[in-house]
Amino acid sequence: MAELILVIDAGTTSTRAMLFAPDGRCLGTEQRNLTQYYPAPGLVEHDADEIWRSSLICAQVMVEKAGGASHVAAIGIANQRETIIFWDRRTGRPLGPAIVWQDRRTADLCRTLKEAGHETALQERTGLLLDPYFSASKMSWALENWPQLKEAGGNLAIGTVESWLVWKLTGGLHVSDATNASRTALMDIARGKWDCALLELFGVDLASLPEIVDCAGRFGKTDPELFGAAIPITGLAGDQHAAAIGQACLKPGDTKATYGTGAFVLTHTGADRMPSRNRLLSTVAWQLGGERTYALEGSVFVAGSLIKWLRDDLGILADAAESAVLARSVPDSGGVSLVPALSGLGAPYWDPNAQAAITGLSFASGRAHIVRAALEAMAHQTHDLMTAFAADGAGWECLKIDGGMAANDWIAQDLADMLGLEVERPAFVETTALGAAMLAGLGCGLFASLEEASGMRGGVRRFRPAMTDDVCQQRLAGWRRAIQAALAQAR
Ligand code: G3P
Repeated sequence: MAELILVIDAGTTSTRAMLFAPDGRCLGTEQRNLTQYYPAPGLVEHDADEIWRSSLICAQVMVEKAGGASHVAAIGIANQRETIIFWDRRTGRPLGPAIVWQDRRTADLCRTLKEAGHETALQERTGLLLDPYFSASKMSWALENWPQLKEAGGNLAIGTVESWLVWKLTGGLHVSDATNASRTALMDIARGKWDCALLELFGVDLASLPEIVDCAGRFGKTDPELFGAAIPITGLAGDQHAAAIGQACLKPGDTKATYGTGAFVLTHTGADRMPSRNRLLSTVAWQLGGERTYALEGSVFVAGSLIKWLRDDLGILADAAESAVLARSVPDSGGVSLVPALSGLGAPYWDPNAQAAITGLSFASGRAHIVRAALEAMAHQTHDLMTAFAADGAGWECLKIDGGMAANDWIAQDLADMLGLEVERPAFVETTALGAAMLAGLGCGLFASLEEASGMRGGVRRFRPAMTDDVCQQRLAGWRRAIQAALAQAR
């Protein structure tokens, strides 16, 4: 009987497919890097066709590894959220580049809407804020500026990345799961429906949008041509929601932080949404059987992408692993602080025009100090979130970390030290994919509940705080000065 689970994790910098056994063992991974297009400062685009082709190739390699489609019980998809794709229903071809979540072309539009007083209602309905990060303003901009979208008329389809992949895999099913839909700023998160007033505000036609569905269920089957036989698609979630599930954040208070391209902290808040008074986001944690569970989220735009930038653009790192070696080679950052506002600042500052800053430089500062300041920024950004969560009444007792950067022991220990909290890291840090596998396993009937599915999660390692308060406070003081510099540079 087929019991393997295939996961497609369509992230910001790479696309992966992974094969899981029902006990959580990862049996294989296939990965392709995704080309990043930066046509002008502030603009970030992807090629939707490349996302599809890479996902398909990686998935085909994993199906072969499984011994054929008959061994694969289900497919789960996790994806970069907010990134928006436009395509023609007749041809299934994209009608423009995918506008990526990091793109800030709509900063002026968001400011105008904010000044016109629309943020309060948007926050009440969607749990989000008026920021270019979310899909709605990107849709509005494209509908205004790309004539081909108007020309497509009733054949225009719009969707986030999982929606696009499901369409391509099934040959025309247009759905979006509630977690992804909740990130568009067009969904009423209390009702789980598209919000007519917001559709009107952003000029989006309901007919172009997907149907909002659960995160687990029998959504459709893949075109048999793709893998030799049809495979059911039974799990869908935005990557951060999938990671929370993969970390077994199943009860109120459970908190995870994923350090991928960006860093995203989600605290489970239960069946009732918790509004934030401190510039955090209220979001859908998952939807099952039409019922939603909610989370509070702190979104930080730059984490792993900072290391990539130091390596590929500045050339001051040979590889990511060298960052920990350099950080350890000096006792501290020598007073250097680095604010990685390379795509503006997310929570809790929300300034799309903030610019990155390196402060405290002198002739005594070397490469190791700058790299150490870059790694320290992960704990500093997380500390800012911890303060906002506590002010919202959602303080953390322990932080479950994952994502590529969490594999770095230096970062894990620095987080425990700076947060003064126990930090827990699973042996398998790819919890985004694991969470999508858990959802797919639930959707195809391998598991009866998320609790049962969480048996897929393996052992954990704990990091305990060991830093003196003096050192911690000194670092935070330097960080606050650097944040002020990043905000002061905002155009
Ligand atoms: O909201 C953006 C987020 O989903 C991107 O995730 O894993 O590509 O950093 P990641």
